[in-house]
Amino acid sequence: MRHFDYQNGAMFAEDVPLSRIADEVGTPVYVYSTATFTRHYQVFAESFSDIDALIAYSVKANSNIAVLATLARLGAGADVVSGGELKRALIAGIPARKIVFSGVGKTRIEMQDALRAGIHVFNVESLAELYVLNDVALEMGKTAPVAFRVNPDVTAGGHAKISTGKKENKFGVAWSQAEKTYAEAATLPGIEIVGVDVHIGSQISDLAPFEAAITKVGGLIKRLRAAGHKITSFDIGGGLGIPYGNNAATPPPPSEYAALVKRLTADMDVEMIFEPGRMIAGNSGVLLSEVLYVKRGEDRDFLIIDAAMNDLLRPALYDAYHDIEPVRQGNLDKMETYDVVGPICESGDTFTKGREMAKLESGDLIVLHSAGAYGAAQASQYNTRPLVPEVLVNGDTYAVIRARPSVEDILKTESMPDWLTKDENVTDI
Ligand code: LLP
Repeated sequence: MRHFDYQNGAMFAEDVPLSRIADEVGTPVYVYSTATFTRHYQVFAESFSDIDALIAYSVKANSNIAVLATLARLGAGADVVSGGELKRALIAGIPARKIVFSGVGKTRIEMQDALRAGIHVFNVESLAELYVLNDVALEMGKTAPVAFRVNPDVTAGGHAKISTGKKENKFGVAWSQAEKTYAEAATLPGIEIVGVDVHIGSQISDLAPFEAAITKVGGLIKRLRAAGHKITSFDIGGGLGIPYGNNAATPPPPSEYAALVKRLTADMDVEMIFEPGRMIAGNSGVLLSEVLYVKRGEDRDFLIIDAAMNDLLRPALYDAYHDIEPVRQGNLDKMETYDVVGPICESGDTFTKGREMAKLESGDLIVLHSAGAYGAAQASQYNTRPLVPEVLVNGDTYAVIRARPSVEDILKTESMPDWLTKDENVTDI
């Protein structure tokens, strides 16, 4: 069931016409569907309901606190990678005991905040980080629960920039150093070893790399236990891909992923931790944009829209494909081929090249699908374009869950040093 679909020739998000949101909030704007978030979370969670599992939604994919609160009510935990994300998760009502803290570069302050909150586990990535965490925990009179993120050296992920499980990547403790690292951790009084963690990449479209990583880690868990470590959790990260609507390999459904994980971990006697991001959020959102101009070029036509790479970076950064559809259902007898581009002054500000779609005109609305994950979360204000707002639909109602700042709001954060304000040509901000 698609929650972004046509009703009588016009696209709706659940029961709200997208044209209404465009009129009332303006474009560009991200529009999310509560029903889709809910369904994706439940499909994932239900496929693991028969085992001891923590679904720690990866906040980086879409970190809006209303989105987090939606998932919190369904029972989700959170995978956070900064003090800011930790704060968001707690504000949204995700209990600290369901929060895991990942990332290669945690600061002392972030460690303190997480220890104070009482999170489930720190996924530690190096000995250097471990020593600092031990120190911070002792200072606070606490013990930090730790899993090491190990690097299993397997190839996975939809693009070089999002593949993380190879030894040349910056992530995780090197496979050959894993056991030594656990042995060292066992000597530190501020550290309690609780588990093992991996995350091999993102937009993974087949199960083989998961199988390879789980099998390798299974062996490691046995060796660690034999060496006397208490391993109670196994976090296999996120990474399961989603269909983006192009012809690239279609990822397996969560049920197949779940069957594989359960088969391989059945006798490990661990709590399984999952950190899905894209799988929950990706197809829960669209980027709604208006066509500004149709520019007839020498050998191609450009559709210049009011969204740009600062609003949705994925095509520019990862050559990512996003399905594009008109909000008013097009006339399929009148097809045209466009390069869809934004107003930013870089050729990289291109969403797609040579895409065939029903003829569009200035003022028409379009959506870029599958933009709920790593869309708004990666947006910037490049070219002094105000941060793109976000709207959450729920049935026949919607709410603005991040407002569009005004240009004045942006400028207010900047200030003029004394030596410049004295210049009569400089106006106060
Ligand atoms: N856990 C860790 C430690 C991660 O680094 C990530 C994603 C996840 C979980 C969630 O992975 P997912 O289930 O969403 O694949 N901006 C890129 C994706 C970057 C992924 C970074 N890490 C994109 O737009 O494709």
